[in-house]
Amino acid sequence: MSTLGIETSCDDCGVAIYDATRGIVAEALASQTEIHQPFGGVVPELASRDHIRKLAPLLQRVLDDADMTLEHLTGIAYTAGPGLPGALMVGAAFGRSLAQALDIPSIGVHHMEGHLLAPFLSDERPQFPFLALLVSGGHTQIVRVQAIGDYKILGDTLDDAVGEAFDKVARMLGLGFPGGSAISKLAISGNAKAFKLPRPMTDRPGLDLSFSGLKTAVRNLVADTSPINDQTAADIAASFEQAIVDTLRIKVSRALRETRIQELIVAGGVSANHRLRQQFQLQLDAKVHFPAPHLCTDNGAMIAFAGHHRLQQGFTEPLAITTRPRWPLEELADQSGSAHTGVLHRSQPH
Ligand SMILES: Nc1ncnc2c1ncn2[C@@H]1O[C@H](COP(=O)(O)OP(=O)(O)OP(=O)(O)O)[C@@H](O)[C@H]1O
Ligand SMILES: [Mg+2]
Repeated sequence: MSTLGIETSCDDCGVAIYDATRGIVAEALASQTEIHQPFGGVVPELASRDHIRKLAPLLQRVLDDADMTLEHLTGIAYTAGPGLPGALMVGAAFGRSLAQALDIPSIGVHHMEGHLLAPFLSDERPQFPFLALLVSGGHTQIVRVQAIGDYKILGDTLDDAVGEAFDKVARMLGLGFPGGSAISKLAISGNAKAFKLPRPMTDRPGLDLSFSGLKTAVRNLVADTSPINDQTAADIAASFEQAIVDTLRIKVSRALRETRIQELIVAGGVSANHRLRQQFQLQLDAKVHFPAPHLCTDNGAMIAFAGHHRLQQGFTEPLAITTRPRWPLEELADQSGSAHTGVLHRSQPH
């Protein structure tokens, strides 16, 4: 079985092929960073148009790399939500039409399920049940994962997502967009103890998170510090990064203790962060899995893998092309077929 994966939920156009026995056999990604950079954020209409331009050439490239033709594909998975409505529609229309032309099944995948399953593409696979920390541009969630498709959200951010906080602080320091990796690079030469920043909500019970207070503390720090030379900027970046890692680690340790689960996966764009990866591995009392660094941010491989499993589980979809710009992860929990998500439908299991 060879499943094509298509990711177009935001500003990365990703295409990959997952083979049931060989794993990911080809993958390609077109980033739109240069298109959106002058605007300081993603411009939805420009994102959709660029996906339209890139999808067919990327598909040809992965087929060539895998030494395959369209006829070798047995299924097509595309991101159906959450994400930008227009961008989602481009991937959905492309995937569905191609599947119909080839007379093979297609399936709409939940973008965060894609992120969550990305660590399964590494050699050492996580064992169920495990906890997942999803840290991306739009999400910060602690999730209990019982099985593929069975998700319970234990903690969520009350305001900004972690990736969003990285991007906003990067802007304050004049590092451009997107900012996470720029902060991370700058922080290497900084002193993480130089500035005292809050670890929000860690002194309160519960697993919810909040990052707007930390972001404001950095804004005030930047306003009160002058001049900001290269070393000061690096110290601010390192102190901010350490505050984020400490906050996440404290909440995740609490979740591991309360659930008595001993395995953790961390996924989403911020899971590429070096400080986070290093300190989580060393300091958490759990087996910790991360995706390969290039699979932390949006990509087609995670969608191909998640879609492959959905198709194997017997999920199909009706003829209408449906996307869900807003789509709670927990709505995937229904494995019985008694309710439907609006995108996924269960037929008789194979
Ligand atoms: N090394 C890094 N350190 C910290 N943050 C990073 C790093 N690399 C990327 N990021 C952040 O990850 C985010 C992008 O991740 P991702 O592509 O998963 O998000 P998204 O797809 O925009 O959001 P979502 O997945 O919630 O829809 C950005 O906010 C970016 O700043
Ligand atoms: Mg993402």
